[in-house]
Amino acid sequence: MNTRTVPSMREVVLSVNGTDRPVQVDTRMTLLAALREKLGLAGSQKDCDQGQCGACTIHIDGERHLACLTLTVAAVASGEMAQEICTGLMSGVSA
Ligand code: FES
Repeated sequence: MNTRTVPSMREVVLSVNGTDRPVQVDTRMTLLAALREKLGLAGSQKDCDQGQCGACTIHIDGERHLACLTLTVAAVASGEMAQEICTGLMSGVSA
């Protein structure tokens, strides 16, 4: 029996610094990867990729999140953040 899951793509809208950016992402893609690879935004850095260094820290609705540990679809699906995700992203690392 094959238990592997088939990756699926989903169209989401990321609102980054007040601008809505539609993007198609793999449902397994982290928010950090979506921002850097799909939108070309390099303000959040990829370093440890394990939630330890904080280099990927972004703001979502004014709260800090580690983008390397956040699935893009999970962040978008969390109700109120659907249109407000990643506000303040380009402020860079905020410890
Ligand atoms: S890249 Fe180090 S915490 Fe995300």
